[in-house]
Amino acid sequence: MKGHVRIFLATLVICSCLVFIYLNFNQEGPNTHCDLSDIPVRPVMGHPSIRPVTDGKAKRAQLPHVRISEVHVSPAFRKSIPQSSAFWNRKFHSGLKKLNDAGHLRLPEISGNGTLESTEYLQANIPNFNTYPPMYKDFVRSMNFRSPDILINQPNKCTSNGKPDNVTLLFGIKSSARNFERRQAVRQTWGQEGVYEDMHNSLLVRTVFLLGTSSLDDPDLGMLLSVEAQQFGDLLVWDFKDTFYNLTLKEHVFLKWSILHCPQVSFIFKGDDDVFVNTKAILEYLKSLQPAKKSKLYVGHIIVQTSPVRFRNIKYFVPQTFYDGPYPPYAGGGGFVFSGALLESLYSISWHIPFHPIDDVYTGMCFLALDIAAEKHMGFKTFDFMVKERENPCLHKHLLVVHRRSPQETIRLWQKLKSPILIC
Ligand SMILES: *[C@@H]1O[C@H](CO)[C@@H](O)[C@H](O)[C@H]1NC(C)=O
Ligand SMILES: *[C@@H]1O[C@H](CO)[C@@H](O)[C@H](O)[C@H]1NC(C)=O
Repeated sequence: MKGHVRIFLATLVICSCLVFIYLNFNQEGPNTHCDLSDIPVRPVMGHPSIRPVTDGKAKRAQLPHVRISEVHVSPAFRKSIPQSSAFWNRKFHSGLKKLNDAGHLRLPEISGNGTLESTEYLQANIPNFNTYPPMYKDFVRSMNFRSPDILINQPNKCTSNGKPDNVTLLFGIKSSARNFERRQAVRQTWGQEGVYEDMHNSLLVRTVFLLGTSSLDDPDLGMLLSVEAQQFGDLLVWDFKDTFYNLTLKEHVFLKWSILHCPQVSFIFKGDDDVFVNTKAILEYLKSLQPAKKSKLYVGHIIVQTSPVRFRNIKYFVPQTFYDGPYPPYAGGGGFVFSGALLESLYSISWHIPFHPIDDVYTGMCFLALDIAAEKHMGFKTFDFMVKERENPCLHKHLLVVHRRSPQETIRLWQKLKSPILIC
C-alpha cells in the first residue's frame, strides 16, 4: 500500500512539472504574437494607397478574356509523353492531333468547356476511376475548370496614377485563408512592397497573396479576408476550393491575372507563404543576368528525372491510369522565378496541356513545351539544412530562397540580415 502511495505521489509531482512546463511553453506563442502586432506595418513607399475593389463584401466578377496566342508544343515535350492508355496521356495527344488537323483551335475545343465531367464519362475513360481517392476524383472531375470568378481583386496593384508601373519583381505567394500569421510575417519582411534603391537603379517590388475559398466544413473566414484585403491591398481571392490538387488552377488564374493587371512586370517570383526569401539577393541576381536570359528565365531548385509517386497514401500520389511517364525537369514549387516576358506564352501553352494535379510539375511541363530550359541555382534551397544552422544569418546571406521557416524565424532572420553590424 505504502509503495502505491509513493508511486502515486511521484506521478503527481511529475505530472505537475509537465503541466507547468507545458503552460510556460505555450505562453511563449501568444506573447510573441503580441510583440509582432506592435511592429508598425511600413507604408508602401512611392506608391499611392492601394484600394481593393471590395467594400467589405465580396463582389464576384469574371476577369476579362485574354487572347490566346499561337504557340507550338515543342517536340521534346511531345516525345516525353508516352502514347499510353492513361487518361491524361490520351487527352494530351488527342488534343495535339486535333490541333494538327485544324491548324488553330478555339479554347473549348482544346481544354473542354470548363464544366465538370460526368461520372459516366470518367468511368468510361478510366477503368478504375471508382477506386481513386475522393480528393482525386474531385480533381479529375474538375480538371477542365479554368475560369473561376474572382472575389477579391487588386486591379491597381501595378499602376500609379492610372499608368502601368515597371514592376521589377512581383511576388505571387500561394496562401490560404487561415494562414494570416504567415502572410503578416511576409509583409513585414521579404515581401515588403516598395522601391529597393541601389547606386544605379530603383527597383519596384509588389506582392500579392493567392487564395481560393475554404470548404463548407471550414469556419467562414470571408469577413476577416475582406478586412485584411482592405487594410493591405494584397489579397487575390478566387472562387474555387483551396485544396492541394487545385494549386494548378491557382497558377493558371495567377498567370491570367498578371497578364491583365501587371503586364509590364520583369520577373515573377511564385512560391509558398512559409519560405524565407532574401529579396535583395534575388534582385542582385536578376540584375546580373545577360539580356537574352532576362527574357527567358525559369530558375529555381530544379528537380530532374523523377516519376509519379504510386503510393496512395502520399500527397503526391498519381494513379497509373491517370498519368503515365516521367516528369519534366521542374523547379520546386516552394519558390522559383521566371520572366514576365513569358507570361503570355505560358498562359497560351497551358491551354494545350491538361491540368496535372501537382502544380510545380505542371509548370515544368509548360516550360518544356515552350522549349525553355529550367535553370538550376544553388541559392534556392527547397530542402532544409541542419537544424542548428536554421537561424544563422550568414548562411542565409547568399541564399535566395529557403524552405521552410516559421513566421517567428522569418522575422528574426530578416532583422539579423538587415543589421549593418553583421559581418559574415
Ligand atoms: C460540356 O461538355 C460536356 C462533354 O464533355 C457536355 O456533356 C456538356 O453538355 C457541355 N456543356 C456545355 C455547357 O456545353
Ligand atoms: C477545385 O475547385 C473546384 C471549384 O470550387 C471544385 O469543384 C473542385 O472539387 C476542386 N478540386 C479539388 C481537387 O479540390
